[in-house]
Amino acid sequence: LFVGIDVGTTGCRALAVDAEGVVRAEATTEYGFAMPRPGWTEQDPEEWWSGAVRCLRSLVAQVGAGAIRGVGLTGQMHGSVFLDGRGAVIRPALLWNDQRTVAQCDAIEARVGSERLYALAGNPALTGFTAPKLLWLREHEPDAYARLAHLLLPKDYVRFRLTGAIATDVTDASGTLLLDVAGRRWSQEILAALDIDERILPALYESADVTGAVSEEAARATGLAAGTPVVAGAGDQAAGAVAAGAVTPGIAAVAVGTSGVVFLPSEEPVHTRADDVAAPPGLEPESLKTVHSFCHAVPGLWHAMGVMLSAGGSLRWLRDALYAAEAAEAARQGADVYDRITADAAEVAPGAEGLLFLPYLAGERTPHFDPFVRGSFLGLSLGHRRQHLARAVLEGIAFGLRDCLDLVRRLAGEPAEVRIMGGGAKSEVWREIIAAVLGVPLRRLGVDEGPALGAAILAAVGVGAFADVRSACQAMVRLGSVTEPPASWPSLYEALLLAYRGAYRQVAPVF
Ligand code: XUL
Repeated sequence: LFVGIDVGTTGCRALAVDAEGVVRAEATTEYGFAMPRPGWTEQDPEEWWSGAVRCLRSLVAQVGAGAIRGVGLTGQMHGSVFLDGRGAVIRPALLWNDQRTVAQCDAIEARVGSERLYALAGNPALTGFTAPKLLWLREHEPDAYARLAHLLLPKDYVRFRLTGAIATDVTDASGTLLLDVAGRRWSQEILAALDIDERILPALYESADVTGAVSEEAARATGLAAGTPVVAGAGDQAAGAVAAGAVTPGIAAVAVGTSGVVFLPSEEPVHTRADDVAAPPGLEPESLKTVHSFCHAVPGLWHAMGVMLSAGGSLRWLRDALYAAEAAEAARQGADVYDRITADAAEVAPGAEGLLFLPYLAGERTPHFDPFVRGSFLGLSLGHRRQHLARAVLEGIAFGLRDCLDLVRRLAGEPAEVRIMGGGAKSEVWREIIAAVLGVPLRRLGVDEGPALGAAILAAVGVGAFADVRSACQAMVRLGSVTEPPASWPSLYEALLLAYRGAYRQVAPVF
């Protein structure tokens, strides 16, 4: 069996799968995160390790340590783990959705030069990325910075505790802003411009490479057998794409979780062509640069990615604001309140009778890169009821995904097939809305286990069960049904799309 561990934002999840992709055991644990100030998010890396230990002990109890041939890691990207020379955590990690680094992003653009940064790192300086967090520490907590010996990403802290190795993989390293994405190595030019010593950075591996083995101490803590190989793994989005079989150009993955992501593999780093490409109608030329250009979990493959900050997050907000009583009732009955919300939305005709929702509850990355914008309902009238709000929220998130898809397809080519995964894939009406707004059929997965499954697939490749990631995906990824856009909806949504895009320009100055 192959184990995947996903060090997520709200909890840790681990699963053990066989070589046919059948899940034989799984375990999850939850943990919280701190918001010490508005816009700041932090987590104690010890929580990730104790979460991983609990999950692994449960897996070992279910399947036995002897059955586990390898372990793969994935997790939330971009977070900064600061370790001293003895491997102790210096302060809590800053997370992917932390927005405190606007000034450091400006400084990075100035010191590296915006054009060089975009050419090398594939992305402009975005507040969630790792390098601005390092500069923030240097400026605001110089004593902590003076003790800094290692900078790690979240899943790589769990690797350190499992194996003692200080290592990362090229997909997760892409989110640091310190990687030469085309060369798949740390960028000496960026490091020099920012005065960062390369010795604090982890060793770089391709995602299916073995980075070490479970130590005696970690074996005692987790129940895993000492010596079990641990592969590099991938950031959660690349690992999720592996789990969806999106490992060749032409197969796109749409992931609707807290964030919303459109992910498209590419045979070359995608940003290099940005200047030759026109922006989609209704979007600014600058929006092209909000597409992330990262390494994929397959050697020689990259990907384009659009990231919405609040996809499922917007629906969770609606649940808490308008469906609290139903949520409590559903919890008592063991039901899912989201079934009620999507059923309400299904009662309302497409277009929600003129109600439009902008899903920017926490600011937005793609297509606007605007940390200050917030969400809106536009067109509220006396006739609108809760059902209309539910419909408008599902539609607004779908429009955000369409923005991501239109940018991604311009930079990385037209996908031949689009696969949908994550919590948002469960509702039929929402799949229909997303299919109609995107204007493409959506294929579900037979097993929607997300990034943890992708990490397990990478482990299977790393220990030699398969020759490469693509053949592992052929054997281990199961596909499900296809949702076609309902007739007549796409043309209606096509007309509303331009209204949606125009609405951002109208509301943005308010914030
Ligand atoms: C990707 C991103 C999120 C985090 C949290 O760029 O920020 O997907 O990885 O899951």
